[in-house]
Amino acid sequence: MADAVFDEIRQYVQERTRLCFSGHKRSLLGSKLQQRVDALALPDMSAYRDILLNSHSEEVVLLDLITTNETCFFRNPRQFDYLRDHILPALEEERGSASFRRFATGEQPGQLNDMRLRILSAGCSTGEEPYTVAMTVLEGLRYPRAWEIDIVAGDLSESCLEIARRGSYETARLKGIPKMLQKKYMDASDDGATFREDVRRLIRFMHLNLNDVMQSDGGGDTLPAGAFDIVLCRNVMIYFSSACQQQLVNSLYRIIAPGGYLLTGDAEPLHLFRHDFTPVREAGCLIYRKTGSNAHDQAV
Ligand SMILES: C[S@@+](CC[C@H](N)C(=O)[O-])C[C@H]1O[C@@H](n2cnc3c(N)ncnc32)[C@H](O)[C@@H]1O
Repeated sequence: MADAVFDEIRQYVQERTRLCFSGHKRSLLGSKLQQRVDALALPDMSAYRDILLNSHSEEVVLLDLITTNETCFFRNPRQFDYLRDHILPALEEERGSASFRRFATGEQPGQLNDMRLRILSAGCSTGEEPYTVAMTVLEGLRYPRAWEIDIVAGDLSESCLEIARRGSYETARLKGIPKMLQKKYMDASDDGATFREDVRRLIRFMHLNLNDVMQSDGGGDTLPAGAFDIVLCRNVMIYFSSACQQQLVNSLYRIIAPGGYLLTGDAEPLHLFRHDFTPVREAGCLIYRKTGSNAHDQAV
């Protein structure tokens, strides 16, 4: 009976989040559930199941407990170097010229959102990834003020998002950020530093469940097809089953604009999946581009 209840909860969590708790992760989930049973002084796991299935707030608490939120600033630094030195300058050149051409020929600008840069950090944890992206964008673009920059940063864990929104980090967590960038983009305090408004205003933090993106064919209202120039989905899909990973890769392909980029985690190369991305080999790290034969069929 206890095992059946445990499996029912495990199944429920998996269906809600795509997080996979098989093998050694099974006992991890078991101990987290027991933690909640004890904290709520419940008689057993079935009492907990009844609460979980009927309470959104309990689901939020459980998701905070069971997600792995490890992250740091400039994780996989080569990806950010390539973004700063190659992808952003190329985009600026391409879109800047297009916009200038339109202006010079008196055509209506705006329709194609030439100078709009849309980036998604999917599974942003406590914010180190999107703030790294924001600093990289400000460093990589020659004329950042000419751009409308929209970095959407989403995560399943509400407590992570709360930390991310604050934008304040203790000294020990800042070590990945070069001193020069800390000075330029953060206000120092006795025990750490806080991102300045000109960095913070580039990022929109939001609750994101990738399961919803994978379920709704069109990606839903928040993440419609072709919505992003660059998507970072790093160290998230390793926690999904391989069938779910394939589905996620398909969904990420959909939400990336033709010519856009996907950055994955070190342990998440895409060669095990079917996809139309082209690896950007000269980057020397895991960066993929939506240049497949059907990329242009998916335009917004
Ligand atoms: C290990 S962290 C990676 C953080 C960051 N991307 C990095 O690479 O440093 C994984 C994050 O993915 C989030 N996550 C897991 N499943 C998710 C889902 N279904 N939807 C959205 N976020 C999810 C977790 O809450 C966690 O914060």
